[in-house]
Amino acid sequence: MASRVCICFCIFVFCLFVSFHRLDSAAEGDDKSAEFVVTLDHSNFHDTVSKHNFIVVEFYAPWCGHCKNLAPEYEKAASVLSSHELPVVLAKVDASDESNKGLATEFEIRGFPTIKILRDGGKNVQDYKGPRDADGIVTYLKKQAGPASAEIKSAEDARSLIDDDKIFIVGVFSEFSGEEFDNFKQLAEKLRSEYDFAHTLDAKHLPRGESTVSGPTVRLFKPFDELVVDFQLQNFHVDALEKFIEEASTPIVTLFNKDPSKQPFVVKFFDSPNAKAMLFLNFSSELFDAFKSKYHDVALQSKGKEIGFLLGDLEASQGAFQYFGVQEDQVPLLIIQNKDGKKYLKANLEPDCIAPWLKEYLAGNLKPHVKSERIPEDNNEGVKVVVADTLQDVVFKSKKNVLLEFYAPWCGHCKKLAPILDEVALSLQNDADVIIAKIDSTANDIPVDIFDIKGYPTIYFNTASGNLLLYEGDRTKEDILDFIQKNRDHTAVMNEDLLP
Ligand SMILES: *[C@@H]1O[C@H](CO)[C@@H](O)[C@H](O)[C@H]1NC(C)=O
Repeated sequence: MASRVCICFCIFVFCLFVSFHRLDSAAEGDDKSAEFVVTLDHSNFHDTVSKHNFIVVEFYAPWCGHCKNLAPEYEKAASVLSSHELPVVLAKVDASDESNKGLATEFEIRGFPTIKILRDGGKNVQDYKGPRDADGIVTYLKKQAGPASAEIKSAEDARSLIDDDKIFIVGVFSEFSGEEFDNFKQLAEKLRSEYDFAHTLDAKHLPRGESTVSGPTVRLFKPFDELVVDFQLQNFHVDALEKFIEEASTPIVTLFNKDPSKQPFVVKFFDSPNAKAMLFLNFSSELFDAFKSKYHDVALQSKGKEIGFLLGDLEASQGAFQYFGVQEDQVPLLIIQNKDGKKYLKANLEPDCIAPWLKEYLAGNLKPHVKSERIPEDNNEGVKVVVADTLQDVVFKSKKNVLLEFYAPWCGHCKKLAPILDEVALSLQNDADVIIAKIDSTANDIPVDIFDIKGYPTIYFNTASGNLLLYEGDRTKEDILDFIQKNRDHTAVMNEDLLP
């Protein structure tokens, strides 16, 4: 189930940022020159990868909208990088294709698009954590293809390397050798796709923090909270260093507004396995400061309780509102999503309500919120419309044989299936024991502990006696009807048998 929650978050995070990229990628007309990106599949993947020191692979699905937005940017980046001094190859794999499923499993692909950086002939695999516009991809990959940690020899070097909007990590050493330095280099290699690293012999070159340090020190610069943190240990193990970086680079409260430099922190917030508290309000409202300070206090007091805190501006939150099925007039709105994906909502709250409500949540006193479309007033078509609020009644309590399609409005295969389901419903219209139904999975919360939805459309069949089956046959009228007849329970007949 954890992976299911993760897919939701991936999709969610993409929703959050579409607005940043949609404008640039609107120019879709130039896909005639789609030739710099190398197309790989199960037959040539390992062979190709083993020949490259540095190759980038996008795992995509043809139906995925964010993949389509990325495609022209990715192609443009591939063409620029093809003439780079260090050869950087960009490739793609259709991971939704049945024959490439093995690759999708091998690389643990849980959402689309997922981009991986493969080094040393594929021996070393890292997640791509860079931007998704052509210029951003080029800049990020050029850096990834170079050394993991750069040397800072002067204050001038430090100024040019350290970006004030980002996490930057510098190792300060008395010499560039020995176990500590080797561990630092290993760490930089391991985390290079996520953070920027440098090393120096003299802390006085650095813009913040003590100018003299005793012994090997890792200094982390960040654009929030205390701005600079030092880490010193007798034994400078990679694991200890990594833990320090993870903790020090997480803001007490992650800010989410239209500022693109905040984006990596927001992505990180949603990538975290922790429960998530999200407060949405209008940052221009006069109550903003009061909310911010109360929320910050609560976040500080909740350290160690495995909850992350995000403060989101109404203006940037349309994606989030759609995802949670909430409205703008509910702000100030506090949402908590727990590790199992359950959601808790407090609408139109006051700054002073934050702490007591969180306490109620922690005590387990709150009822989860379920996103649902409105129950349709008339539901007279052959294929019945199910929403989250009617799912239990129609599918599990009706004592009927129910075929339920989970669809997404944008999904092409679902559109093809629609007239076929209409015909199936028409064939069975006189059979009171069978219901053909559909649910929009993007507008309704689906219980992930019951239904495993890996793509759209997914079709389940619940028999009258409660036997839940996944339909895996062809999407033709004949096959679906066959399946229903083969697996259904004949409740009415059974009942008649009981009559004297
Ligand atoms: C946020 O508040 C400001 C100031 O009250 C107001 O002008 C603006 O329209 C509000 N924004 C939204 C999206 O409601």
